[in-house]
Amino acid sequence: MLSIVRACAIVGLDGFIIEVQTDFNPRATIPTFTIVGLPDNAVRESRERVRAAIKNSRMQFVNKTYVVNLSPADLPKHGPAYDLPIAVGVLAATDQVPLESVERALFMGELSLDGSVRHIKGIMPMVYSAYQEGFERVYVPVDDAAEAGLIDGIEIIPVASLGQLVEHLYGLQPISPYVAPPSSDNGQASVPDWIVDFADIKGQEHVKRALEIAAGGNHNVRLNGPPGVGKTLLARAMPGILPRLSNEEALEVTRIYSVADMLQSGQPLMHTRPFRAPHHTISQAGLVGGGTIPKPGEVSLSHRGVLFLDEINEFSSKALEVLRQPIEDKSVTISRAKGSLTFPANFLLVSAQNPCPCGYFGDPVKPCICTPTMIARYQSKISGPLLDRIDIHIDVPRVEYDKLMSAERGELSAQVRERVERARERQRERFADYPGLFANADMGAGEIQQLCILTAEARQLADLTVRRMQLSARAYHRVLKLSRTIADLDGKNLIEVHHIAEAIQYRPRMQPTG
Ligand SMILES: Nc1ncnc2c1ncn2[C@@H]1O[C@H](COP(=O)(O)OP(=O)(O)OP(=O)(O)O)[C@@H](O)[C@H]1O
Ligand SMILES: [Mg+2]
Repeated sequence: MLSIVRACAIVGLDGFIIEVQTDFNPRATIPTFTIVGLPDNAVRESRERVRAAIKNSRMQFVNKTYVVNLSPADLPKHGPAYDLPIAVGVLAATDQVPLESVERALFMGELSLDGSVRHIKGIMPMVYSAYQEGFERVYVPVDDAAEAGLIDGIEIIPVASLGQLVEHLYGLQPISPYVAPPSSDNGQASVPDWIVDFADIKGQEHVKRALEIAAGGNHNVRLNGPPGVGKTLLARAMPGILPRLSNEEALEVTRIYSVADMLQSGQPLMHTRPFRAPHHTISQAGLVGGGTIPKPGEVSLSHRGVLFLDEINEFSSKALEVLRQPIEDKSVTISRAKGSLTFPANFLLVSAQNPCPCGYFGDPVKPCICTPTMIARYQSKISGPLLDRIDIHIDVPRVEYDKLMSAERGELSAQVRERVERARERQRERFADYPGLFANADMGAGEIQQLCILTAEARQLADLTVRRMQLSARAYHRVLKLSRTIADLDGKNLIEVHHIAEAIQYRPRMQPTG
């Protein structure tokens, strides 16, 4: 007898419907259980889990010949998510589950030997593709029901065990579909405690201003300063001043974390913007994604959030160079023999560094002990093209003792965020006819010309600057984009002279030469 049950595979970030065809031959003399259709080891081992789970759920596993084909056969299948559909397929092929009850439904879940159904990764994109393909319901592990419930328009049946599922399929003890609890916080989950509040960082007003501009137009930032002045602290405050995640963005981010199996239990939807701070020993694949089963890397895990490269000079040049493409394209493409995969990677890059190996070059208090050659070599580790993709370069000096000790609290992150959100709103309105543009940093040369309109006085200053500082066309465009954001924060439609003047300050300073 033949049964057909549907399951789902994950390719990149997308779900792909798989047909689990089970052929049972009761007349065979030699008992076998074969799985074909490019299963990996975890899928192949599912035979043992399925066999034990069926027996331990007080059903029969007839020791005859089974052939399970996972179709399409040329798509590699990974992981334990096929346990449940294979078990249901075996039961349906041996008449222990009514065939019609598995129609128009999708099954997913790992099985324990005792028959209980366990969590799997990638639930959300799987349920989404089930919804898109017009399935009526999905059977998911009970632990993953809340994540599945993020997708509207499809019935979610939370399954605790194989035995419970069979009783449901026979209509003996129907499982009630999952209903999402009314959201108590309207998506405004409490701020995680690792986010530093601007109010707790003393002094550094000009750096806070630069970070506000960075958040206001999604510009990449480089912080440069001696040890212990608060660079890491300032970077950690970034997620608190960035605009709140819209529902659409939250789902986008959740999808990536679902596939990477990094969603926190009890919190199916990502409410806060990601903040990723990979260690400088990270490999190229860890940074941009890869592996035999391509997994999203740090650039994708920080999609719609912040990628913080602390001590950027310590990263290998190779790792830094592979960042260039995702910064430019806002996505990353991983090529494999069997085709290529694209992961989103639209992040705000914040990098921090010391100015020299000893850390005190330019510090007014502690003398620097490095030679000019050492300093030049240290600074040249970040290549020109990468520096060129960073809009805001800012020095973080040491804070005076009185300021550090004062009990006075500065402006709260929430207040800064209000201004950032207003500036982003202006950008959204301006970009209404420009699909793909979300923030000023995304503008290309054409858009800059159309959308960065200067007052006569501002144009004069811009012309003068280009001539005096011998700015390249790209550097000039960068100044215009930044001043567009500064004007947006100021609530102005035209870019004025002081907007340009401020933007020029964020250009990189000349590096010392040996
Ligand atoms: N402006 C500040 N306000 C309040 N605390 C500060 C400030 N600057 C530094 N600190 C304190 O000093 C500690 C070290 O700061 P942080 O780690 O941010 O320095 P850093 O600039 O990243 O140094 P490094 O170059 O060594 O990485 C912080 O954890 C905090 O306790
Ligand atoms: Mg630091």
